[in-house]
Amino acid sequence: MLSPAESTSREIAQRHRRYVLTPWAAQAGLDTPVIVRGSGVHLYDADGTRYVDLSSGLVAANLGHGHPTVLGAMHEQIDRICFAPPSWFNDARAELAEAIVALAPWADEGGRVFFTTGGSQANEDAVKFARAITGRHKVLTAYRSFHGSSPGAAALTGENRRWVSESGTPAGVVRFWAPFPYRSPFDTTDPADETRRALAHLRATVAAEDPGRIAAILMEPVVGSNGVIVYPDGYLAGVRRLCDETGILLVFDEVMTGFGRLGAAFGGERYGVVPDALTFAKGVTSAYAPLGGVVLRERYARAFDDVPLPGGHTYSGHPVAMSAGLGALRAYREEDAFDRALALEPSLRAKLNDLRDRHAIVGDVRGAGAFFALEFVSDHASRAPLVAWQGAGMGVMATFYAGLRKRGAYAFGRYNVVCIAPPLLTSEAELDEALVAVEGAIQDVESALRG
Ligand SMILES: Cc1ncc(COP(=O)(O)O)c(C=O)c1O
Repeated sequence: MLSPAESTSREIAQRHRRYVLTPWAAQAGLDTPVIVRGSGVHLYDADGTRYVDLSSGLVAANLGHGHPTVLGAMHEQIDRICFAPPSWFNDARAELAEAIVALAPWADEGGRVFFTTGGSQANEDAVKFARAITGRHKVLTAYRSFHGSSPGAAALTGENRRWVSESGTPAGVVRFWAPFPYRSPFDTTDPADETRRALAHLRATVAAEDPGRIAAILMEPVVGSNGVIVYPDGYLAGVRRLCDETGILLVFDEVMTGFGRLGAAFGGERYGVVPDALTFAKGVTSAYAPLGGVVLRERYARAFDDVPLPGGHTYSGHPVAMSAGLGALRAYREEDAFDRALALEPSLRAKLNDLRDRHAIVGDVRGAGAFFALEFVSDHASRAPLVAWQGAGMGVMATFYAGLRKRGAYAFGRYNVVCIAPPLLTSEAELDEALVAVEGAIQDVESALRG
């Protein structure tokens, strides 16, 4: 006999399977908790089971769940007006754009914001703007990158999530290898060599494509869903120099890295490199409403003073999303959230390194701020991935996620890399509790491998 809670959760799961297409998953047999509530670092399912959210959803709910400042701002806006035509001005839109520009890296010069509903749209629009500004067509992106899944953004993406969208996608996207010290594409274990060789490779790629035809280099300042890869010292600065020499616009995709994830407003700031434009989404509202956008440095925004901006969406600058953004930015300020992410970094690094030291299958720990990854391998010496990257499935990593779930924790990951990116306000005690679940799940994988 099922309890009322169990029967409710089973019924919802059945309805979900029957009517919802779940992203990136084979639909048959999907079995996940039914999330109905969130509070702080915790998600709750329909049965009342609590899960600590170790990845801020999809590296997005930077304030955790249910933050009262964001909810209050949204309630106030909803009572006043929910939709204003994007072609007319709106108070919340003006206020949020000003606040985002104040965080952007062009101190005195400033900039202007074009709002979208998410990161994919933002990257597609950024490329459209870069092409209009420069009169050039090509765009360079890295192989290990994700810039979104709508066809245009998928065409910009480096990895296998672009494959299904490749036919008929816009021409002119050229990919390059960026540095990855743990798995060097440049055959070196020395980070300085890695930077030097990666920059030489990028220079050669730019030369072969003709810099006069390249509108932009679009890149994540720290690679997100392709493995949380922190570029070695000097790489981003070298890319900036190359763009300065060639008139190519440097566009940072800050969809994951923006709004405090790396302990600074934007990732470029953390590494002292100033782009010409940046895209954002996720953390701008702490994921409480769908919102993304492009910030153009003022000198480039001026390109559209006398010619029409080549883009627009029904929900550009949607007032409810604007209020979520304003609430989130206020909460980040009042909670000192970006500094708290920076303060989490040493303990996250130490605690995750400790897991690596005690478990041969944890091959690498890397990250910055509150944005880390565990990379799973057969053993430390071989570094052989426990599950092939871009392969058909999760393999033994499914055991890891099942182990997390049964211990009341959730994390997002791909193939052999698990993303540890908790809400920026996570306490040490909450982190410790969550890492007990992570270690238990690692032990489950070790048992499974032993057979
Ligand atoms: C770096 C990066 N860019 C773009 C996107 C796409 O954003 P969205 O899912 O909001 O379209 C993502 C999503 O995870 C991302 O991580």
